[in-house]
Amino acid sequence: MPSTLPAPTGVASSETRANTSRALPSHDSTRRIALAHQLVARVLLGGIALQLFFAGLGVFGITTFLPHVIWGTLVVLASLALPLLAWRGHLKPALVRRSWLLVGLMLLQGLLIDIGHVVPVVSALHPVNAMLLVLVTYGLASQTL
Ligand code: HEM
Repeated sequence: MPSTLPAPTGVASSETRANTSRALPSHDSTRRIALAHQLVARVLLGGIALQLFFAGLGVFGITTFLPHVIWGTLVVLASLALPLLAWRGHLKPALVRRSWLLVGLMLLQGLLIDIGHVVPVVSALHPVNAMLLVLVTYGLASQTL
């Protein structure tokens, strides 16, 4: 006679439960990561507002564009946290996609300036893309959890 009986169908053994909890994040951890994702998106939105202010300082000749270039680089790098959080936290696929879209638009933002050195009219798309960045970041920051 076997010393241990198999678990009845539909009831997870302790080993199965342990494996399942490792494979799928608990509801609590998903919610915590979703909250962190929203917080990062809100901070990023604030960072973008500051970036627009730095652009204004440059446009009106109050400072050079250096603060805008430095802060812009930090904002672009910080945006990478969003898709990483969304992916690691197994957040909704739409949220993961929109987070990657934001990173793509951020990279494009710098690229538009670089391409503009060769084809000047392209740099005029830099402020247009800034508007898209605000829209997408606002969408992520105002996500209902
Ligand atoms: C979300 C908003 C924005 C972000 C994240 C952003 C980001 C950047 C970054 C990363 C650069 C450096 C690019 C490079 O050197 O490769 C840059 C340069 C520049 N940006 Fe923006 N930008 C934003 C909005 C704006 C707006 C609204 C304007 C115009 C009113 C503007 C005007 C410029 C100019 C003129 C440069 C070139 C500065 C120079 O090379 O001396 N930016 N921006």
